[in-house]
This record gives sequence, C-alpha cells and structure tokens, in this order.
Amino acid sequence: MADIPLLLDSRTDMARLNENYLKLKAGYLFPEIGRRVSAFCQANPQANVIRLGIGDVTEPLPPAVTEAMHKAVDEMANRSTFHGYGPEQGYDFLRNAIAQHDYVARGAQVAADEIFVSDGSKCDTGNILDVFDLQNTVAVQDPVYPVYVDTNVMAGRTGAADAQGRYAGLTYLPCTAENDFTPALPEQRVDMIYLCYPNNPTGAVASRETLQTWVNYAREQGSLILFDAAYEAFIQDASIPRSIYELDGAREVAIEFRSFSKNAGFTGTRCAFTVVPKDLMVTTASGEKKALHPVWNRRHCTKFNGVSYIVQRGAEAVYSEAGQAQTAELIRFYMENAKLLRAGLTAAGIEVFGGENAPYIWLKTPGGATSWDFFDRLLNDAHLVGTPGSGFGASGEGYFRLSAFNSRVNVEAAVDRIQKMLS
Ligand code: MLT
Repeated sequence: MADIPLLLDSRTDMARLNENYLKLKAGYLFPEIGRRVSAFCQANPQANVIRLGIGDVTEPLPPAVTEAMHKAVDEMANRSTFHGYGPEQGYDFLRNAIAQHDYVARGAQVAADEIFVSDGSKCDTGNILDVFDLQNTVAVQDPVYPVYVDTNVMAGRTGAADAQGRYAGLTYLPCTAENDFTPALPEQRVDMIYLCYPNNPTGAVASRETLQTWVNYAREQGSLILFDAAYEAFIQDASIPRSIYELDGAREVAIEFRSFSKNAGFTGTRCAFTVVPKDLMVTTASGEKKALHPVWNRRHCTKFNGVSYIVQRGAEAVYSEAGQAQTAELIRFYMENAKLLRAGLTAAGIEVFGGENAPYIWLKTPGGATSWDFFDRLLNDAHLVGTPGSGFGASGEGYFRLSAFNSRVNVEAAVDRIQKMLS
C-alpha cells in the first residue's frame, strides 16, 4: 500500500492542467476580501463588522416577485401545470416582457428571440468567450470588474501578469479622476472591448455622445463591444442611455449583458439575460462573415438547460405594474444610501466619485494610502469592509469602493465610523 503514492508521484502520463489558471493572481478579489474579513472576525469576535464590500443586495425580493414565485411553485405541484425542461433560451413570457419593457419602450430595437435568459451576468460574460477565437485582441477599462480579465486569462488569451497585475496581451484603458473615468479609445485596434456602464467599480456613466463614439469606433474598426449594463436601473439622469442599443448602429457591433440581481434583488435567486442581435456579424479566419446569433444559440443550448420556471415567473413579475413600482422603490432606497455615503464622506474630507447614477461610491484614499492599507485601516479601526481599488486593476490603486447595498442603519453607522476614524 505504501508504494502507491510513490508510483503516482513518478508518473508523467497524467491528465494535464490548463496552465492558464496558474497565471491568475492569488484569488478572485471578493474571496480574498472574505478571507481577510474572516480572519479579523475570528480574532475579534465581539466586533460588529459592517460590509460595504461586495455589491450584494440586502433588501428582500419585491412582493410582486415572491407572489409570482409562490404561484409558480404551486403550478409545479400539480401534474396538469407542472413544467419540466423549459426552452434553454428562456420562456417566451419572460423574453417578450424584457423586449417590450427594456428595449422597445425605450426606442431600442431588440426582439424577444435575440434575448438569452441565463443564471447571471457574471457567468454570461465568462461564457461568451467560448465563441471567440483565441487570437482576438481584447481591451478592458482599468479599473475593471475582475471577471472580464480572469476569464480571458483562463481561456489563454493573455501572457503572465506584471507586478501591477496587468496581463501581457490585454489592452488596458485607464479610467482615473484625470480623465473623468472616461477612457480614451485604444491607440491600436482591438477586436473586443468590454464596457461597463454604469461602471463597476467607479460608478461613472457614459453620455450618449461617449457611447456613440464607441459604437462608431467599433463599426469602423470591425470591433465588438461587450456591454455590461447590470446597473442600468440606477441611472437617475434621463439623458444617459440605459442600453447600448439606444445608439445608432449598436445592433451591428454590440452584445449586452443585463441582470435582475441588482434592480430586483436576485443575487441569490439568479436570473439575467444576454442580448445577441441578429445583425451582429463576425468573421472566420478565411474572411467569411458569419452571424454570431446562431453560434451563441448553439453554445447556450448545448451547455445550459435554462433558468428554472419558478425563477423566470419571478423575473417576469418585475415588469408588472406592482413589480415596477416595487423595484423603483428598492432603487430609491439604495440610491438614498449612496447619497448619504457621498455626503458623509465628503464632510469627512474625502474626495468621492460615483454614487449618483450607480450604487457604488469610488473614493480617493485619504492621505495617499494604498488601497489595501486603507482596507486594513478601515477594517481594524472602524470595523468596516470595503473593496480596495487596486483589486480592480492597476489604475485603481489609491482608490477604494464602497457599496450602497446595505440597510439604512448600517449605512448611517458606517458614515459615523468613517468620520470618527478620520477626525
Ligand atoms: C461587485 O461587488 O463588484 C459585484 O457584486 C460582483 C458581481 O456582481 O458579481
């Protein structure tokens, strides 16, 4: 028996690892924060830690949603109304509601069969890479939602990371206070560009003109835009587009990711969707033009069996009259938190950005501290958890993100603690 491990150790004909995973930096940002916070809580069990780190909602699902889900559960309990496998792309009742309310009503042309219902935008932004060639060049905003970068690293589209965590082969588009968190167009042509608006983590929004510039760039260059609009419901300024498809020509060059997580509290319930317009063309190595829609449909149906009927009925209820009123109330609640955070931090002498059309406050760390030093200080001295800006990319160094997703009482306590810590 004792010989067996030795035998295994000496074998070379084992299953091989995808070594791209070894290029990834230590851990995905939020688990890394989780580890540090757990260590702190173990050492300080009496501390009342307030978490404004990961953008996870705190308020319960709207009553219209839970009522629809209860009803759907009852249907599942009855032979005549039971549902087995549904359409992989989503039930028509939900796809039609999305197309009508999120697009057609806003003057954007998106048809129900261009919508692919899924279990999350995080998964979708990673999964979409299956249908793109490894040679495609990629640009990301910096700071950036880490999933876009890490999934490209896993796929093998990058080299190693440098000391600042920038991966060779990716084009980083810096977004800092100096450029008003609005990146310049890439200096060299790229095939794929991730844009996230309202932005995670900076809370910045893109005007119609800015987005039109990107769409025009993509059309001229033959590039494709991966547009993450997970936070569109938080836009307060009516002049800001909520969808990339509100811009001329976007149907030819953009995929859009949307989610019920943040607007309707579905982070634990899981429902989102991706729009792949039928006009969107890509090319083969030999230069043949192909529509992406059937390719993504093929991938989606092969690897995914659809979101549960119960959850899709809940998502559909978001678009009912009651659901619209209740989700608007949730947004108002979180945006009031954002306002309190902005005002309280500003009064404490901190320079703040975002939080006006997004649930994230992006702040300059006081005294020029590094992002992680400020994280540790906030945790140790104020028992508050936020997200270090450098965790989102090199250009996030010296910045810090606070989420407005929390109870009012916790947000007020957080402001109070930060003010005391800095006084
Ligand atoms: C965040 O905190 O950046 C988000 O919660 C992450 C996500 O939505 O996956």
